[in-house]
Amino acid sequence: MSNNTVTLNFSDGREPIELPVLDSSMGNPVIDIRMLAAHGIYTLDAGFTSTASCESGITFIDGDEGLLSHRGYDIEDLAYKSDFIEVCYLLLYGELPTAAQKHAFESSIRHHSMVHDQVVNVFRGFRRDAHPMALMIGVTGAMSAFYPDAHDVFDPAVRDLAAHRLLAKVPTVAAWAHKYNLGEPFMYPQHRLGYAANFLYMMQATPCENYEVNPVLARALERIFILHADHEQNASTSTVRLAGSTGATPFACIAAGMASLWGPLHGGANEAVLKMLEEIGDVSKIPEIIERAKDKTNPFRLMGFGHRIYKNFDPRAKVIRETAHEVLNELDMNDDPLFKVALELERIALEDEYFIEKKLYPNVDFYSGIVFRALGIPSSMFTPLFALARTAGWVAQWSEMLSSPGHKIGRPRQRYIGEKMREYVPLEKRTG
Ligand code: SDX
Repeated sequence: MSNNTVTLNFSDGREPIELPVLDSSMGNPVIDIRMLAAHGIYTLDAGFTSTASCESGITFIDGDEGLLSHRGYDIEDLAYKSDFIEVCYLLLYGELPTAAQKHAFESSIRHHSMVHDQVVNVFRGFRRDAHPMALMIGVTGAMSAFYPDAHDVFDPAVRDLAAHRLLAKVPTVAAWAHKYNLGEPFMYPQHRLGYAANFLYMMQATPCENYEVNPVLARALERIFILHADHEQNASTSTVRLAGSTGATPFACIAAGMASLWGPLHGGANEAVLKMLEEIGDVSKIPEIIERAKDKTNPFRLMGFGHRIYKNFDPRAKVIRETAHEVLNELDMNDDPLFKVALELERIALEDEYFIEKKLYPNVDFYSGIVFRALGIPSSMFTPLFALARTAGWVAQWSEMLSSPGHKIGRPRQRYIGEKMREYVPLEKRTG
């Protein structure tokens, strides 16, 4: 570790402050500012554009190069060579599993994939037309009442069991949210099926007839789950970390992460992309939508474009675009009009000076809706699928935080810009 430092010099005569600069194992060095509070000064970084909230070894992103890796493995290797259960293991434990480790892990996830039968009643408290994300947040948070043993989060064994339970039960809750919307009976997990195939079964099968999962589609969904598994300290992961830093039960923390992910600027963008593509409808309308996105007086943004970190292609978008081709080909939907609109919109946007200057590229959400729609998944279920996959990253980051030495509750400070101290005015003397 280098002994690099930086010195803060103040023009108001305040004593200079020397701060350590810490190297990272990959990517940017960081200035360790933890001692500043003792000097009576804070830093301000609303939106955390330049602030590292933690030290983590799970995911690395190089936004300029468009690179993403998990525990040192490139996302494209994992997407094309691994499977989701193996990536869950890698995120959680730091290494790719041996065959025996993978078998034991997969067996545990299968074992926990049922939910307590009383959980069915939690669904019944919602209207049938409740958004599936509302159902997922409500039911996942409610499960904290079914597993009181999960409250002792500083016990590694408790954290491990909670992680397995969440990885196993969130797909069941997500699939049942869809069935609840349809008014169809819940389909129970099938231990004979892989992770993505089991999810497709629970979402699409009915008790009336045999349902065979298309292996090509299941493989495509596995790949999409891998691409959505973790992404460093994004808004929803930071939400899980902050909630978890208080020692809150993991089911409540993951429900908080789901709530954060639901926003259209974050995980809700995939649903918004499809609505935007449907609104465009035809390639002839693309110039108009691009002009709207560039108009500073218009709050509209081109959904699925831009990213806080990627100033190059989001490597996940490239893999999902290829997966979209595969799925549409398998389903003989190559002339899918929305896919044509998406490809043309991407081509035109990437040639437009505004998008080039602001380094706005398609992100993970731009193509995922095309694939989900081709898989017969309704747009209201796009963000639930993102939440299902991101549960892998959330539980890994939550566990890493609680196991880190010197763990502290997250408690940011602020720059106060309100009223200075003033005398209380009795009601009868207030003139309004
Ligand atoms: C995800 O953080 C993660 O890692 C998230 C995620 C993950 O895996 O967890 O990758 C998943 O959330 C992907 C992003 C999905 N969201 C969208 O596709 C919504 C559309 N994108 C934007 O809202 C925006 O790009 C964000 C929210 C993604 C990023 O916003 P930033 O980093 O705060 O950037 P910004 O708003 O400061 O934009 C910089 C400039 C602005 O113009 P100026 O004020 O400088 O003139 O670029 C413009 C923005 O107006 N801009 C866009 C735009 N995105 C940014 N203009 C038009 N269309 C867009 N999509």
